[in-house]
Amino acid sequence: MNTNTLTHPTLPPLTGRTALVTGGSRGIGAATVLRLAREGADVALTYVNGKEAAEDVVRAVEALGRRAVALRADAGDADEAAGAVERAADALGGLDVLVNNAGVGLLGPVEGFSVGDLDRVLAVNVRGVFLTAQAAAARMTAGGRIITVGSCMAQRVPGPGGTLYAMSKSALIGLTKALARELGGRGITANIVHPGPIDTDMNPAGGPYAEGQAALTALGRFGTAEEVASTVAHLATAGYVTGAEFSVDGGHAA
Ligand SMILES: NC(=O)c1ccc[n+]([C@@H]2O[C@H](COP(=O)([O-])OP(=O)(O)OC[C@H]3O[C@@H](n4cnc5c(N)ncnc54)[C@H](OP(=O)(O)O)[C@@H]3O)[C@@H](O)[C@H]2O)c1
Repeated sequence: MNTNTLTHPTLPPLTGRTALVTGGSRGIGAATVLRLAREGADVALTYVNGKEAAEDVVRAVEALGRRAVALRADAGDADEAAGAVERAADALGGLDVLVNNAGVGLLGPVEGFSVGDLDRVLAVNVRGVFLTAQAAAARMTAGGRIITVGSCMAQRVPGPGGTLYAMSKSALIGLTKALARELGGRGITANIVHPGPIDTDMNPAGGPYAEGQAALTALGRFGTAEEVASTVAHLATAGYVTGAEFSVDGGHAA
């Protein structure tokens, strides 16, 4: 019998680590917050409108015996996007893992988008991700992990309507690879996860376009937020993976 195991049970892999998940009050972000907490991390999360939902997630993390803090920070506001990192690190005592999850989806005919639409999507999906990653890079030490949520639409656009969204998510691939090159020497990794159709408020599995999206996957179904969160959590612990893209899309890109 291994008595050592009895007296010193194996700790979850992220024990003692701290994480920030942007857009962590619902959907993929909320599932990621909970998954990281189950793996042992203390977690900060941002939200914009859903204060109550964010506080529910905080309570769920605390019920797991971990610390959590909800921060109102609009990823589309330059100061708030960067400031979330400092606020999270100050609240938790450092920052080891950043999950750039907050994003907006705006689909429609290319000729229908206004300059305001363009600016808003790029501000949240691209500028906010850059500024948050930039602030995290300044704060993180060796072992830091930057994980960005892209989209299957950055790899394969299966029909019309995706110009703005696919453009915004494709930019994150370049950012991720460049961050990996720039931060690798400091022992910090950067990776991107591309979800396929995932059942959330943004893209409900019971929505009007759901059947067509499910049919585009090899598995013929929507994924769950938890299925994305498990890959994010893996990347939060993986040491020799950087600059890489991961499809969690049921075979949408196959
Ligand atoms: N669901 C899919 O099929 C799918 C597929 C591919 C990629 N994705 C990507 O996955 C990520 C999460 O999507 P989801 O489906 O989980 O979305 P969701 O259900 O709409 O949840 C979005 C989350 O982000 C927060 N948020 C929205 N705008 C924000 C902003 N400007 N600043 C900070 N937080 C903000 C929301 O908070 P509030 O409640 O406060 O607004 C909420 O917590 C997005 O980047 C999305 O593009 C989703």
